[in-house]
Amino acid sequence: KEYIAIAIDGPAAAGKSTVAKIIAEKLSYIYIDTGAMYRALTLKAINRNIDLENDQAILEELMQTTIELKQSEAGQIVLLDGKDVTDEIRFQNVTTKVSHVAKHAPIREEMVRRQQEMAKNRGVVMDGRDIGTHVLPDAEVKIFLIASVEERAKRRHEENIKKGIASNMEDLKREIEERDRIDTNREASPLIKAKDAIEVDTTSLNINEVAERILVEVSNI
Ligand code: C5P
Repeated sequence: KEYIAIAIDGPAAAGKSTVAKIIAEKLSYIYIDTGAMYRALTLKAINRNIDLENDQAILEELMQTTIELKQSEAGQIVLLDGKDVTDEIRFQNVTTKVSHVAKHAPIREEMVRRQQEMAKNRGVVMDGRDIGTHVLPDAEVKIFLIASVEERAKRRHEENIKKGIASNMEDLKREIEERDRIDTNREASPLIKAKDAIEVDTTSLNINEVAERILVEVSNI
């Protein structure tokens, strides 16, 4: 086979997207950030004042919404109904609400349908929470990335400082734990390691070591 599918799942801020991008680049595959899709929908629902507990209203909105992930020289850009929302979907108000939108089964069904369509007939690295379990259950390589919550908060904190964004470690820790709690405990395709996924603890690894580890799995296919 000339190409395979690589699924990368795990809790919030475990380094999934950074490592997925490196691997996609190395293999000349496309990278699909499924979290960005839930974030874009959440942004739209907030802007439209939709009750985030009302799954039918959000689904109705989703059916009239386009979410595109494009690769540009500066990295991935996210277009919501054609508008660039790459930065906005990372803002605090979206981050604290996205898990409430993502917990609804009908929303997930439509998102999974779109994600499977995007991944069809090509080499793909996809990251999220349910990729190995639901979106790409036949992925040749499945990785479950974990790291201690302290380490994840610290990395996010350092990233924020570098970007010049105000940041507080304790707030980050709380936000990460709360998101993991909702993602793990929801009924519809919760965050869980697929039976055939390889768990990689990145707490004491740097990003290149993690990428190397995954590329070894890829070359063993
Ligand atoms: O990956 P990221 O942290 O940007 O994802 C944001 C949120 O989107 C997650 O906390 C989760 O609630 C939701 N999500 C999901 N399924 C995915 C990807 C993200 O439920 N495949």
